[in-house]
Amino acid sequence: MTSEPTLQMSETLSHEATATARGRPVLAIHGGAGTLLRSAMSPEAAAQYTNALEGILRAGQLQLQRGDSALDVVVQAVRALEECELFNAGRGAVYTAAGTHELDACVMAGDGLRAGAVAGLRTTRNPVLAARAVLEHSEHVMFVGPAADLFAARQGLEQVPHGWFGTPQRLQQLRLAQALAAGVVLDHDGQAAVINTDNAPLDEGQKFGTVGAVALDDAGHLAAATSTGGMTNKQAGRVGDTPLIGAGCYANDATVAISCTGTGEPFMRALAAHDVSTLMAYAGLPLAEAAERVVMQTLPALGGQGGLIAIAASGEVCMPFNTEGMYRGFARVGEAPVVAIYKEAQP
Ligand code: GLY
Repeated sequence: MTSEPTLQMSETLSHEATATARGRPVLAIHGGAGTLLRSAMSPEAAAQYTNALEGILRAGQLQLQRGDSALDVVVQAVRALEECELFNAGRGAVYTAAGTHELDACVMAGDGLRAGAVAGLRTTRNPVLAARAVLEHSEHVMFVGPAADLFAARQGLEQVPHGWFGTPQRLQQLRLAQALAAGVVLDHDGQAAVINTDNAPLDEGQKFGTVGAVALDDAGHLAAATSTGGMTNKQAGRVGDTPLIGAGCYANDATVAISCTGTGEPFMRALAAHDVSTLMAYAGLPLAEAAERVVMQTLPALGGQGGLIAIAASGEVCMPFNTEGMYRGFARVGEAPVVAIYKEAQP
């Protein structure tokens, strides 16, 4: 088992809410939730993930320290996650059943409930930048398909050949997922095969990879951003929760900023991110209680697996998940970043 280098707590971070630090600028990020790899996990593989998360948190921390807006910080964090091929967004995105990539992203600013979203991108290098461009430069809220790529290109955003998003590991995952779906891949116990192909800490074949960031800035504004390649072997044209405001992404200065990761359809049906905000706004629940109810009760009742990261207007951070692990971390200005993968902190 690997160690958790910077995790100080024995809990899951799901109730991280240090009263002393509330209200201070803070960033939280995730790189997807999932099940544990059943074969041996190397400390080196875990370190790759935790180092990547920590580096992104440190960069965001500096931005917050110098007074950047929460919107700037979440967009930069998600852009960095998209550029890192360990995670399922941007480069390293999973494949559709047709062997293509279709990328979704959403950005929301808590002041004025401003939002932008894109779905089914195929050539825009950083979908999160396209979502932000929709927020800032369009009278609309969401674009889909080739028109969304065209919009991004007209906004000056970099376009790449479609094959740029793929990696050999993701292609292997598609092949194995398709073989598994066809019932031909079994492990030596006759169980469903572990289809992880790169010794990642979470089983990449059973991981609901999406990336996301939420932040509270010095001015008291919240923002959220989420980006994904979707689910391995998804039907071409399928859109999940990630680009849907209130499902996989939501920010409201009066309540909370949220980014979700998981099996998209239940998150869509539950309006998971908005549900947390609603429980806080109308039922008066504290963030930890509202998030716990959605992730541990509402979503499982619909077959939803995954988790979310959230920052309340108070600065409280909460990162619950109902899977065995979630790549995640948070950083307050002036404090060491905290990064974790598994449910339990390792000794
Ligand atoms: N949560 C990402 C998706 O379902 O597409």
